[in-house]
Amino acid sequence: MIIANWKANGDFESNKVWCSRFIARMSSIGAKSTGIAPSHLHFNHIKSYLKDHDIEIGFQDIDIEGGARTGSISPSMAIDSDCSFCLIGHSERREIFNEDNYIISKKYQMLAKSHIKPVLCIGESLTEFQAGKTEQKLQTQIHECIKGNVSSENLIIAYEPIWAIGTGNTPKPKDVNTIHEFIKDVVQSASENNLRPQVLYGGSVNKSNAADFFVEKNIDGALVGGASLDADMFSDIIEIYSRHIEK
Ligand code: 13P
Repeated sequence: MIIANWKANGDFESNKVWCSRFIARMSSIGAKSTGIAPSHLHFNHIKSYLKDHDIEIGFQDIDIEGGARTGSISPSMAIDSDCSFCLIGHSERREIFNEDNYIISKKYQMLAKSHIKPVLCIGESLTEFQAGKTEQKLQTQIHECIKGNVSSENLIIAYEPIWAIGTGNTPKPKDVNTIHEFIKDVVQSASENNLRPQVLYGGSVNKSNAADFFVEKNIDGALVGGASLDADMFSDIIEIYSRHIEK
């Protein structure tokens, strides 16, 4: 699957232009397993623009409950708005909003009980990468977020090394492939349903490097930030993915 994470970008006018360009490109490519996560504010607007196309629209985050929680979007609101997937544990949520694995595990638990696909983001910092602690960090994140919880059949993991996000630096695709295999093994032994999840790579994916990632056996797609804000660039990435999907 290829997911666009628009973060806090977009406005009503530019989103409309983005959607019409994207629809034009998709009519020739065909959007296989594509998702878009716009802001909560723009969710319905994007959903209605793309309603005749096979594209999943999701949330970038969710709160763990509803009620007296000013500024939050509750789980029941996500269900009510027919959200297809929801990112949880993005490193920006962890760093800027101080979310820890305990909170993320609550979000996972809540999504696992709904029809919404959880897309659990995990990844190491540059210091952890340089110290050779990537696998240890990922294992802890997976265990603390999903172990002991009800398992979701639909769980997707997004591996996003923090040092690769928005920097133009990426790990070598072969190394990512090895890490994804490790992630699949850890999830399989930590989940009660023996699940081997799809694992997406995120961090400076663009049309020039996408093929190098998608050719790898254990890289099942991408979570795309900056490059997804340009409808043509995002369409190019989907086109490249479609060519590799049968690998
Ligand atoms: P970039 O593609 O801009 O590096 O962002 C990746 C990301 O954070 C997607 O969730």
